[in-house]
Amino acid sequence: MKTIVAPSILSADFAHLADEVKKVTAAGAEYVHVDVMDGTFVPEITIGAGVVKSLRKFTEAVLDVHLMVEHPETQLESFAAAGADIITFHVEATRHPHRVIQKIHELGCKAGVAINPGTSLSAIEELVEDADMILIMTVNPGYGGQKFIESMLGKIHMLYHMIEEMETECDIEVDGGINAKTSELVREMGANVLVAGSAIYGAADVAQAIEDIRGEEIIHHHHDD
Ligand code: DX5
Ligand code: ZN
Repeated sequence: MKTIVAPSILSADFAHLADEVKKVTAAGAEYVHVDVMDGTFVPEITIGAGVVKSLRKFTEAVLDVHLMVEHPETQLESFAAAGADIITFHVEATRHPHRVIQKIHELGCKAGVAINPGTSLSAIEELVEDADMILIMTVNPGYGGQKFIESMLGKIHMLYHMIEEMETECDIEVDGGINAKTSELVREMGANVLVAGSAIYGAADVAQAIEDIRGEEIIHHHHDD
């Protein structure tokens, strides 16, 4: 399984965003991860659809929008129109997560569903078949630079098997505290889309940091446990 690296611009210099995006895409990153926070679902406020629209004109990279907002259903049109490729919302933020997936698809985007560390996998079990991606948060959302929560490894592994058992296709994205070391742990568990903010933008050599996070390709063997 080929690993996709998604640098989070949350750790970039917002005064030079275009250059900061170019820096990571030129270094081989496939996705650009955009953290949208509303000051309610999480304490801080970050960026909105206007920024996505400006970035869209500037890059052909996949724009991976992570909505950390209440009532995500109210934001889908703006982000799709702005040029998002993937829209990921939190299962904790809406009463009708399946309808949100349908709406994202109608708007022509890929749909991701994120779950917080404290939310059980059962909350997304019925969504796996229709979602394009499940985002397992490996920190509590809200800030860059937090410590990876090791106990999430079992959850990633369980999701990997759930997808396998359902004989469906669904990417497993992880977000929070990912660096060269934790990358290896999550990739072994089956994660294939790796978000990293501080480990990439904080590195002296960005291309090296991306390659370290990508690591060696891991071959997963099917088994029945
Ligand atoms: C956290 C955000 C992350 C954040 C990750 O709420 O969703 O995308 O930027 O930052 P690092 O990689 O520094 O933990
Ligand atoms: Zn994120």
